[in-house]
Amino acid sequence: MATNITWHPNLSYEERKTLRKQHGCTVWLTGLSASGKSTVACALEQLLLQKGLAAYRLDGDNIRFGLNKDLGFSEADRNENIRRISEVSKLFADSCTVSITSFISPYRADRDKARELHKEAGLKFIEVFVDVPIEVAEQRDPKGLYKKAREGIIKEFTGISAPYEAPEAPEVHLRTDLKSVEECANIIYEYLVREKVI
Ligand code: PPS
Repeated sequence: MATNITWHPNLSYEERKTLRKQHGCTVWLTGLSASGKSTVACALEQLLLQKGLAAYRLDGDNIRFGLNKDLGFSEADRNENIRRISEVSKLFADSCTVSITSFISPYRADRDKARELHKEAGLKFIEVFVDVPIEVAEQRDPKGLYKKAREGIIKEFTGISAPYEAPEAPEVHLRTDLKSVEECANIIYEYLVREKVI
């Protein structure tokens, strides 16, 4: 970290929340490639916006075109990817927005750090396991990546040649092969309402 820097006090979260009339939080979707993270995240974003709530989606592929374009898929790069996203998502949550992140985020320790970061800032963090058997994800293979991974063209591919550590106690557990996209988005929405997150 740089030296000679000073933290500038900001409007408190409580003051902002009162003015915005909305809580912020991070809804953290994690799951294999092709599990449905982005699709569910889009549906949830739309649902929240339609209800007049501020919501914004941070997506794996998209963020790698800009903010994280210097990162690949080694373990160290994935750690850094998730560290940056955790910080960005915390800022969105602090701005009283429902921040919806859809990243594979395969390492439990990285997701736990993201949770801790939010906890320290007094912000809610909801981990959503977008679960699907790998056989189903591989059958879907919308981008042809599993095929390339099996052929050895893509190295370190999650679930094939790189690990995925499933959440042990996620706030929400979805099976996207058993429920529709709309049902999945609604399950998250209802959780947020029931737990008074929004
Ligand atoms: S991570 O593990 O959280 O840092 O990954 P993420 O930033 O979510 O990026 C995942 C998307 O990158 C594409 N892709 C790969 N995924 C996994 N492993 C390898 N090696 C890889 N190479 C490219 C892929 O399109 C992922 O998008 P989704 O939407 O998950 O399929």
